[in-house]
Amino acid sequence: MNKSRWIRITATGNIPLREGRVVRLGTHEVAVFNLGDRFLAIDNRCPHEGGPLCDGIVAGASVVCPLHAWKISLETGAVERPGAAAPCLRTYPARVEDGVVLLEVPRSVSRPAAPDCSTTATSCPQPLRG
Ligand code: FES
Repeated sequence: MNKSRWIRITATGNIPLREGRVVRLGTHEVAVFNLGDRFLAIDNRCPHEGGPLCDGIVAGASVVCPLHAWKISLETGAVERPGAAAPCLRTYPARVEDGVVLLEVPRSVSRPAAPDCSTTATSCPQPLRG
């Protein structure tokens, strides 16, 4: 049995270019970023002190944490700055289908909940139903 599944997250237009938005999957938060030519997804919790990566600054294919500027690869989840002192964050395969962002998540993870964001709820994507 396949241990993962693809779930619909939001319309691509709900995540502005070079910005991130958070989606809550059960008790888990995933930050989804729009890099223009692709979407990348990573755990929303910075490995330093738990900063909300969805509010970070996108630099290339990395995000700079808004709290203390650790730089984390959105492709691998590795900490690029200050170094390899912290474990990698989990990343999630993402794809776009008919203008909708989909993430591949473990089957044990719940479906998207109501929109949420650590700082500005109005900037969050609107999860799709069904
Ligand atoms: S919490 Fe992210 S750098 Fe400190």
